[in-house]
Amino acid sequence: MNKISLKDEILAKARKELDKDILDFINESLQKEHPESFLIAVLHKVQEKYGYLSKDHLQAVAYLMNIPAAKVSGVASFYHLFHLKPKGKFVVSVCLGTACFVKGAEKLAKKFKEELGVDLGQTTTDGRFTLVNTRCLGMCAMAPVVKVAEDIHSKVTPDQVPALLEKYSQKS
Ligand code: FES
Repeated sequence: MNKISLKDEILAKARKELDKDILDFINESLQKEHPESFLIAVLHKVQEKYGYLSKDHLQAVAYLMNIPAAKVSGVASFYHLFHLKPKGKFVVSVCLGTACFVKGAEKLAKKFKEELGVDLGQTTTDGRFTLVNTRCLGMCAMAPVVKVAEDIHSKVTPDQVPALLEKYSQKS
């Protein structure tokens, strides 16, 4: 097998990892003056589509954008908004924006960590919950705010955390 066909094979494999819309977006960015400046936007699109960024996704993006794989992985792991593992059934987002922080969101996040036995950005071993922090959810008057899946919970106190999680433990 010569060098060119090996490269073609790798690119073909990379294309199979990603959805057509993402491939189109990558192709468009490759026409621009600084294609690498679209890396974060591409990673957002991949995460939006698949829920997280797998090693294969990152490798595919690296090949198709002609950016070193180490750089793509570095960017993906640097930004806390990117998930490198599949998310749990319910994503618990604790707002750590200023208003929520002032109203005790840090203690709330600590309680969620204790109850779930995971750190921020991690998923429980049963795959049910992923705990993340988020910036302002635009509901500062109801601080501290926690979003679970699509539900907003306001003025949450640490002692309400076990019951709140229990509610979602029972949900199918
Ligand atoms: S700071 Fe939490 S909702 Fe605005």
